[in-house]
Parts: sequence; structure tokens; C-alpha cells
Amino acid sequence: MSNTLIAPSVLAADFGNLQRDIEMVNNSEADWFHIDIMDGVFVPNISYGMPVLKAITLHAKKTIDVHLMIVDPDRYIKEFARLGADILTVHYEACTHLHRTLQAIKAEGMKAGVAINPHTSVDLLKDVINDIDLVLVMSVNPGFGGQSFIENTFKKVQRLKQIIAENNAKTIIEVDGGVTDKNAAELSAAGADVLVAGSFVFKAEDQPETIKNLKKIANSAE
Ligand code: DX5
Ligand code: ZN
Repeated sequence: MSNTLIAPSVLAADFGNLQRDIEMVNNSEADWFHIDIMDGVFVPNISYGMPVLKAITLHAKKTIDVHLMIVDPDRYIKEFARLGADILTVHYEACTHLHRTLQAIKAEGMKAGVAINPHTSVDLLKDVINDIDLVLVMSVNPGFGGQSFIENTFKKVQRLKQIIAENNAKTIIEVDGGVTDKNAAELSAAGADVLVAGSFVFKAEDQPETIKNLKKIANSAE
């Protein structure tokens, strides 16, 4: 029996009713809050920054999973720790000295994550896999919510699972982008431990029920 976690992406929340949406997640079967920080340089879009994260952590009662889509993330590691991030994920493509960045994140008491774009091979993580707490496999090109899922992701998750096992690593796998009830079971079967869902959750009429169903479907896999 798998134990796949669900992480609603706050990017798709109603910012005019942010506290309401955060309480919805608090009171649902969701496991984490997924927070997307975009700088308009690494990705074409700008999302939100520190003041909004501060407002979120004021009310959020679950794990804060921060996904940085920014260049030079090292500059902000201490600040995100101070703001209450439990997991801090940086992009492989944005880090020249990834190993050093991972150590710096852990030194601040956070779990260290590495995100990879759809074109980045999971094999590139082999030499640092034992230093990574979480690999975030992007299943869309980062920058926007509401895009369609890239099917090649299943293969990448399977290969990553293999690399983790071969190295006796404890790394967990998160999949982010275009997650719905149509791909959740297959993602979980391929080896995903955490599924991020933005539009699928927040555009739904009954959001807690949608989270509950998604979790049930994800955990119905072998
Ligand atoms: C995209 C972000 C995702 C996004 C997912 O760059 O990393 O977390 O919010 O949104 P959906 O689930 O709508 O694809
Ligand atoms: Zn994300």
C-alpha cells in the first residue's frame, strides 16, 4: 500500500481570499502546502515573494514546501528558513555549485530539494543523490499553472526511483505540473511520493472532496 502525499499549489488559490483557501487546505486531507516562487528571470513569470509567504505561514498548519524558480537561489536560503520553509527546492538548471547549495540549505535546518525541468535527465543527479532529500520532477515547463501534463514524466520517475534504490538513498520523489485524477495513480505506481496539484484542486467546486479523491486515487496504485 503506497502512501502518496498531496501538496496543493497555492499559486492557483484565490489571493483575495488567501486565508480562506489556506484554512481549506488545513482542514482537508492534503499533506503539504506547495509554494511557487518565480522571479521573472529563471522563468517568464513572476508569482509572489516573501511578504506573501509570510502571510501564508501565519495560517498554514502543514509542511511548507517551497519551490524556488529563481536564479542564484543561494542569496535567499537564510531568508526562506527564517520565513518557515520546511523544504527548500532549487532548480538544477539554476545552480552552478549544486552540492554546495544543498549543504547550505541543510545547514539552515531545512530539507533540501532539487527540481529538474522536463528536458533535464534524472541521470544528472546520480552523483549527488545521497545529498538530496527530495527530487521535484517538473511535468510541465515551470512558470505557469494550468498547463498539460508531459507524458514522458512517467519514464523519468521510474528511472529516478531506480537511481535512488541503486544508491540506497532516502530521497523522495515529487511530481509537479498538470497533475489530475487521470495521471495520479500511474504517477504513484511509477514511484512518485508527493503529487503537487494547483488548478485541479483550486478550480474544483468541492476542493476538500477533490483533494480527498486525488489522494485516494494516488493510493489505489500498487
Ligand atoms: C509551475 C509550478 C506548479 C504549478 C502547478 O511552474 O511549479 O507548482 O503551480 O500547477 P498545476 O497543477 O495547475 O499544473
Ligand atoms: Zn511548483
